[in-house]
Amino acid sequence: TKRYRIALVPGDGIGREVLPPACAVLDAVGARHGIGFDYDPFDWSCERYAAEGAMMPADGLDRIRHHDAILLGAVGWPGTPDHVSLWGLLIPVRRRFRQYVNLRPIRILDGVPGPLANAPDVDFVVVRENVEGEYSEVGGRLNRGFPDEMAIQEAVFTRPGVERVLEYAFTLAGRRGKDLVSATKSNGIVHTMPFWDELVAERATRHPGVAWRQEHIDALVAKIVLDPGRFDVIVASNLFGDILSDLAAAVAGGIGIAPAANLNPERDFPSMFEPVHGSAPDIAGQGVANPLGAIWCASMMLDHLGHPEAAAEVYGSFTHVLATTPVRTRDLGGTASTKEFTDLVLDAIGHW
Ligand code: NAD
Ligand code: IPM
Ligand code: MN
Repeated sequence: TKRYRIALVPGDGIGREVLPPACAVLDAVGARHGIGFDYDPFDWSCERYAAEGAMMPADGLDRIRHHDAILLGAVGWPGTPDHVSLWGLLIPVRRRFRQYVNLRPIRILDGVPGPLANAPDVDFVVVRENVEGEYSEVGGRLNRGFPDEMAIQEAVFTRPGVERVLEYAFTLAGRRGKDLVSATKSNGIVHTMPFWDELVAERATRHPGVAWRQEHIDALVAKIVLDPGRFDVIVASNLFGDILSDLAAAVAGGIGIAPAANLNPERDFPSMFEPVHGSAPDIAGQGVANPLGAIWCASMMLDHLGHPEAAAEVYGSFTHVLATTPVRTRDLGGTASTKEFTDLVLDAIGHW
């Protein structure tokens, strides 16, 4: 049996309710494929912050840097400012472990209600730059408290930082055999991304087989709603990719089902798998969170670890449950609990 050490960071709210289902699914599929998982749980969360004054210990990142992967639930809770919780845990992991690709697949699955449930063939992926861009800490506040108070907020785009995520996106588009769209907003205003555009054009010359185009982010979001079937790989900066992926997830039936892989393509640090959704304080503690986003993350993690058959089996199981049963959690219009839905997925493992 091949064994993997997984750092488990449930975090806050429903993060703690959706990770156990993901682990149960991993164990079930692993048993069939000779793969075992040793989970190391870490209580890093807003609760820990309240008790100890820090989201994670000072040497937190060192404690997980040698794990094979990280599974994260969600971080953030009312009462703890988001800049504390997110910059004290989520963002440092992404940055220090050079998880510069945030991969967010979007598919309209059979049996998932949504505004576009009947749209044909929606299957695209957002490649979000994950460590720089608009999520930089460069800038400052001037004239605090005066009428002319102002903030300078810089987005940071480095040549290596942009090139590596573009390389990933072009390679992925080449492998998928379709086209690549780069989302920017470079029609004239100053705070735009001409540098990013230039690097896209440059990188494209190394991938002559990949058709690509630039689209303005504002028009692009409208097209994703109106005609999502025409997209395949969309590459975007950190903030644009964040917005695009929530929008696209909603189009595909809701953020409760959307997965994300924070990838370190060089594999010199672990990658992190986390559902796109947050801690959902409004439903936390009731056992009704949709575990699908987290379970889909488990599938992506298996892929990353080099087990595409096991990954496909997980994907096949939950898509089968959706396509053949009416059982849904509340966010998808049903009445099922987290456990009820998870149990159906577990039953389907190995059959699809
Ligand atoms: P959210 O994703 O937590 O919730 C938005 C809405 O979607 C809520 O109505 C919630 O009930 C619903 N929802 C989300 N996931 C669901 C699921 N799996 N099943 C059923 N319903 C689900 O977003 P928010 O309310 O803006 O943020 C809450 C907290 O989470 C904040 O502190 C925020 O910063 C944090 N957050 C963390 C992450 C992360 O850890 N990656 C991502 C987004 C938000
Ligand atoms: C996400 C979240 C985070 C992000 C927040 C919570 C910092 O929205 O993972 O999409 O913006 O990256
Ligand atoms: Mn987001």
